[in-house]
Amino acid sequence: MSALNVAAIRADFPILRRTVRDERRLVYLDSGATSQKPFQVLDAERNFYETCNSAVHRGAHQLAEEATDAYEAARANIADFIGGKPADLVFTKNATEAINLVSYAFLNATLKSQQGRDLPAGSEKFILSAGDEIVVTEMEHHANLIPWQELCDKTGATLKWIALTDFGRLDPKSIQEVIGSRTRIVAFTHQSNLLGTINDVAAVVTRAREVDALVLLDACQSVPHMPVDVEQLGVDFLTWSGHKMLGPLGIGCLWGREELLSAMPPFISGGSMIETVTMQGSTFAPPPARFEAGVPMAAQAVGLSAAVDYLRALGMDNVQEHEHMLTQAALTALSAIPGVRIIGPTDSKDRGSAVSFVVDGIHPHDVGQVLDDLGVAVRVGHHCAWPVCRRYDVPATTRATFYIYNDLDDVEALVQAVVAAKEFFGA
Ligand code: ALA
Repeated sequence: MSALNVAAIRADFPILRRTVRDERRLVYLDSGATSQKPFQVLDAERNFYETCNSAVHRGAHQLAEEATDAYEAARANIADFIGGKPADLVFTKNATEAINLVSYAFLNATLKSQQGRDLPAGSEKFILSAGDEIVVTEMEHHANLIPWQELCDKTGATLKWIALTDFGRLDPKSIQEVIGSRTRIVAFTHQSNLLGTINDVAAVVTRAREVDALVLLDACQSVPHMPVDVEQLGVDFLTWSGHKMLGPLGIGCLWGREELLSAMPPFISGGSMIETVTMQGSTFAPPPARFEAGVPMAAQAVGLSAAVDYLRALGMDNVQEHEHMLTQAALTALSAIPGVRIIGPTDSKDRGSAVSFVVDGIHPHDVGQVLDDLGVAVRVGHHCAWPVCRRYDVPATTRATFYIYNDLDDVEALVQAVVAAKEFFGA
């Protein structure tokens, strides 16, 4: 029994009516890369353009006033969804930009302090010195790895990482050992996009607090799939993207603690993030405006707010329970196929719905191609988490990800397609 009425949900997603590859039913198992969008989100975005399209926080006319109200109402609704306050939510292009925003706060604070420039009060938290350390984990998406590598490269800080067990989990011993007195920030994923592992946030936060380090949680694969509350998690920053949670492409979110956002120098500079401007220099607006230079993506924010309403109406506990059921079914059925190996935890405890696997004797790209021919859309490759593939000694994986519009028929279609791939290649 599912906690969700999948037939009713599917009716809300126009794209799920189309067929692919010789009139086959579309079995969309790539929501970990991007989710599909319901009418409610498409209508909200379209309605913005049809009724009040204008540049928010600028115009002196009614359309601009209405657009600004819609944009700020979206901010309040989305912040509430993760237990935050609107003033602490910054809109970005995507989660990658949100993480870069924080890493550049460190870089810019460090450079400006070296040059004796003015910085916001409290910015010491972001000024790096020789010997300081940045901690990530070996299971990060490149978006939560490369910005920190770059920061270390430019400042001389050292990048360290928490190791993984053979079973796809953070090694508890490594958490204790790697986070130390020189750690300035621990940036890690809530749920691995490749392994599906849901990490023990409390264990990392507890250790980080012992050494007074900041904590950034990459929640791209958790906010769409489970209840997430920033106060319960106890983190300092939360980053995620809109398009993986039924929302439009082109919008991401950074939630940060008020006192930290206030202490951070800006990342991207330009219009509407300022307080005063002269030819000699400028001062900057308080957050979130400080971090939203240029004309904001108001239509996308309104669409994302509609996505939040949609998920809230389903209930995030129900979403999680539904996906848990599908994940368990997929793990059981795939593991029963000779030659199929799950990369990541093999049981569904503390595990999300990203199911990566390899098939003996067939390259993951070839598996993906046979699946596609049968109408089953999955992702193949290193999933922007190349070190994870190296850790488990695979060149790549085939990955299925489940969401609210998937059901057990989709799991069965995946399993049958993998069996067909084996037959096709004689593996
Ligand atoms: N980060 C996305 C994924 O895991 C694109 O597929």
